[in-house]
Amino acid sequence: MTYRNIKIAVDQKTAVVVINRPKKLNALNRETIAELGSAIDELSHNSSIRVIVITGEGDKAFVAGADIAEFAHFSSEEGQELAQRGQEELFDKIEMCPKIVIAAINGYALGGGLELAMASHIRIASENALMGLPEVSLGVIPGYGGTQRLPKLIGKGRAMELISAASMIDAKKACDWGLVNSVVPQDELMDTAIKLATKISKNSASAISNAIDAINAYDQDGGFQREIENFGHCFGTDDFKEGTDAFLNKRKPNFD
Ligand code: CAA
Repeated sequence: MTYRNIKIAVDQKTAVVVINRPKKLNALNRETIAELGSAIDELSHNSSIRVIVITGEGDKAFVAGADIAEFAHFSSEEGQELAQRGQEELFDKIEMCPKIVIAAINGYALGGGLELAMASHIRIASENALMGLPEVSLGVIPGYGGTQRLPKLIGKGRAMELISAASMIDAKKACDWGLVNSVVPQDELMDTAIKLATKISKNSASAISNAIDAINAYDQDGGFQREIENFGHCFGTDDFKEGTDAFLNKRKPNFD
């Protein structure tokens, strides 16, 4: 499939998806959201891809939010539909993606941009990154999952403060607060993300997809039951046979 607003490059078993609207600081218009959603579908079904890395074009922004120009004139109904479609078409899809999605945050991650990073499974930030959910300064609230995912990552009190003050925090504070997993110099960001993706790619893809599904249920009723079921499911896979046989025969497993 050809895309206008994103680029996809493949590095061994890792797909790097670049949001490519640098003149608008990679703001997410509806077309970009639809393209990202299609790319996640496409890469989820591509068995040669094990990990997806999402980043922004340029050295200034990951994504500076939803495209404000696009929704400035919307009615309440249109606003609700924008949030609903966006969550279904992209943000929930990323969270439920059976392959690990890493957000490589290379600059501003604001509003919908931070929400995109928070829907991803792992976040790595460059030292210059600035993050926040400034929607209340526009008279609106986060609509792509921010009010739900931010408190889970940093706690309710900090989320209340960050959202109500429309503050931006730097990468170090984001790391101290658990919003990102690690911080690296900007010129090392993509190498760090690819190195982690390569390490993940060596493990069992089917076990990882079962782990993602169980971890995503950690704060729901029935999370422990989901783990029990997924644990059992793994026993029926070729990867389980390969992994345990490799261990018992003192060799490296081959999960290709
Ligand atoms: N939507 C649309 N356009 C955007 C944008 C956005 N979220 N963020 C930046 N741009 C555009 C600017 O309008 C500007 O375009 P022009 O050159 O055509 O005027 C271009 O990108 C460069 O931006 P700036 O000139 O503003 O760059 P700066 O360095 O002076 O400031 C910034 C950078 C602080 C990130 C500033 O651009 C900014 O505050 N952006 C908006 C951040 C924001 O409020 N995000 C939340 C959006 S709402 C949302 O996301 C809702 C949701 O949850 C669903």
